[in-house]
Amino acid sequence: MGEIISGRTLAASLKQKMAEEVATFESKYGRVPQLTVILVGEDPGSVSYVTGKAKSCAEVGINNSTVRLSDKTTEEELLTLIAQLNTDDAVDGILVQLPLPKHIDSDKVIAAINQEKDVDGFHPLNVAALWQKQPCTLPCTPKGIIKMLKSKNIAMAGKTAVVIGRSNIVGLPVSKLLLDENATVTICHSRTPNLKEVCLKADILVVAIGRPKMVTGDMVKEGAVVIDVGVNRNPETGKLCGDCDFDSCVEKALFITPVPGGVGPMTICCLMENTIECFLKKH
Ligand code: GUN
Repeated sequence: MGEIISGRTLAASLKQKMAEEVATFESKYGRVPQLTVILVGEDPGSVSYVTGKAKSCAEVGINNSTVRLSDKTTEEELLTLIAQLNTDDAVDGILVQLPLPKHIDSDKVIAAINQEKDVDGFHPLNVAALWQKQPCTLPCTPKGIIKMLKSKNIAMAGKTAVVIGRSNIVGLPVSKLLLDENATVTICHSRTPNLKEVCLKADILVVAIGRPKMVTGDMVKEGAVVIDVGVNRNPETGKLCGDCDFDSCVEKALFITPVPGGVGPMTICCLMENTIECFLKKH
């Protein structure tokens, strides 16, 4: 029976430390960090993420403003808002919640954010810096995953890591971070024919595919570390569930992250950290 890595507990302790640091900023710098989150439309998942971000900002002492725009907002209107925030000295971080409505080009919007305010680490210059091992803002979910592994002293060097999913938000950047920790990394996706066979080789299995309970215990090597990035609604119960079938995977794993309470809280925690980093770079 594997040990559960609680992202909730780890995030709470890291946020506590950040709150202590942020409490010194008013006297040191005359103000606290400011994060502006832009939400276009009413996607229920996005609304709940944005609410979670606002709550964490309050806990850490970061000023948060959330701009809620209708799903009819045009690309031009969104780009105009970003241009205003880019030049507003009071704003340290800008986050545009994804996905955006289909009529808006996400790549164009992300590229329009001032690189220094890109708390998501999604700007092309930040992505390039990551792949060239230059200093950069790291994407929040991959950063949180590495922190979780390190919190349990899980060795990555020389280990076989398998990542399922090749998204810009999770799959690709987490693969790069694992590579930087000297793991041997395989990236799988919907067209990988022998998925089970590849998964069974993994010492560290990161699942970010967005399909409820897709990875089952028979795909997990005895003693593996399983990181479940999925946030899905269980079609039968309506409850939140991950991309892994927790009950069968926990039997095989040495460590496993739960959903909810695993990777999700760490993503938000790293967003707080990135916002503080952007603020400190200016001061
Ligand atoms: N949608 C899902 N995950 C993320 C994230 O990390 N950042 C943003 N901006 N949108 C998301």
